[in-house]
Amino acid sequence: MQVHQEAAASVLQARHRMGNNPTNASNACCFCWCCCCSCSWGFALLYKVVCSSHPKPTPEDARSWSVSFEKLMKSASGRSCFRQYLRTEFSEENMMFWLACEELKKETNKTVVEEKVRQIYEDFISILSPKEVSLDSRVRDVINRNMLEPTSHTFDDAQQQIYTLMQRDSYPRFINSTEYTDLLKRSRASKD
Ligand SMILES: *[C@@H]1O[C@H](CO)[C@@H](O)[C@H](O)[C@H]1NC(C)=O
Ligand SMILES: *[C@@H]1O[C@H](CO)[C@@H](O)[C@H](O)[C@H]1NC(C)=O
Repeated sequence: MQVHQEAAASVLQARHRMGNNPTNASNACCFCWCCCCSCSWGFALLYKVVCSSHPKPTPEDARSWSVSFEKLMKSASGRSCFRQYLRTEFSEENMMFWLACEELKKETNKTVVEEKVRQIYEDFISILSPKEVSLDSRVRDVINRNMLEPTSHTFDDAQQQIYTLMQRDSYPRFINSTEYTDLLKRSRASKD
């Protein structure tokens, strides 16, 4: 482990211990949700619940997800269903990180940006986190440099790397999965 990375991680840990860790309600909710859903016995059931209770994709929308990963990621129900699928593969943190980066990029308030950057680092970059995403050392170096002066684009390279990882790795399996093919069948059936 590199020294500056270790240092950054221990600063974050120290702040955490000091209770200097304001977590807003939606974050708290998200963590609780993710924690509940990682009960392995529950995910198959939850998949069905979430995927069918989410604003239902139109058959056209659902079909378009197999055309390209980009189309899937541009659709709210596509992201939601793919996320449920990633949970079954125990790689949901990739989508959570990607979504957190999207939120960060919309933020303009410097104070909030710094807080979100710190939170994202702690949740997904720190090697101490159970939700650590898989990044190469080049991207980790970029982040560690960026952490000296956090901005809403601190994680851009990392976000791109995780996007490519999901596209190459889980997306082809998702498109081939019974979860997706069943959804296609259901959405066609409900149209008729
Ligand atoms: C930025 O956010 C902080 C914390 O939420 C708030 O106190 C402050 O007023 C905001 N600043 C601007 C310029 O909106
Ligand atoms: C998808 O399923 C087909 C048929 O079962 C199989 O031949 C193919 O290798 C699978 N592709 C992926 C990416 O899993």
